[in-house]
Amino acid sequence: MKKYIIANWKANKLPEDVTQWLASFKKQLNENSRIQELITSEAVELIICPSFPYLMLVSKELDGIKGVSVGAQTIASIEHGSFTGEVTAEQIAKMATHVIIGHSERRTFFHENEEAIQKKTVLANQLSLQSILCIRGAEDTIYPGVSMVAFEPVAAIGSGQNMPVDQVIAEKKTFSNLSAETPFLYGGSVTPESARSYLSTNEINGLLIGSASLQAESFLAIAAAA
Ligand code: PGA
Repeated sequence: MKKYIIANWKANKLPEDVTQWLASFKKQLNENSRIQELITSEAVELIICPSFPYLMLVSKELDGIKGVSVGAQTIASIEHGSFTGEVTAEQIAKMATHVIIGHSERRTFFHENEEAIQKKTVLANQLSLQSILCIRGAEDTIYPGVSMVAFEPVAAIGSGQNMPVDQVIAEKKTFSNLSAETPFLYGGSVTPESARSYLSTNEINGLLIGSASLQAESFLAIAAAA
């Protein structure tokens, strides 16, 4: 199965940082024949998830690069209408192909509950957005129709304490409603040094990267480990 390497920039970067990241990313991509081969042969797909204000710019800049896609970090749980501040699936679908749903930071800091997360997965499906559903463990529901599942143990996120690969594989076995066809990703303090241990297994089909995606260089070093 293909490997997915996802950059989750979270609430980071000013416009000038985004421009600089994109320039550095494109330059390194051009110079690195190994990564080019991985993405053009569809062995690896890179998905870049910036904050909402940069989606259009990032989409335009990366348009036409095979094997590189753009995603949002969340969507509204309502279709459209009088909901000040919300950004809907149909709006996102005009500028991106993917969306992260149910990240633990949204569950914790913005009180997203299972009902909202389920609605988001349905809306993403209706708009043909590929959904990347984040789960913290077996307590979180895996909804039908999600495009991929990212297992992100809360203690591993941003802590430098990545969960060892054997443990990730053992945890995967406890996710009873995870179908064999659904790509299964790991996320939580992955670095260029630790990426290979996950990507060399058949059980783990990709990585969701936070801190190490903020520099194009370390993000691409992770991709090169695929
Ligand atoms: P991290 O974040 O790589 O900084 O731990 C991962 C995530 O929260 O998606």
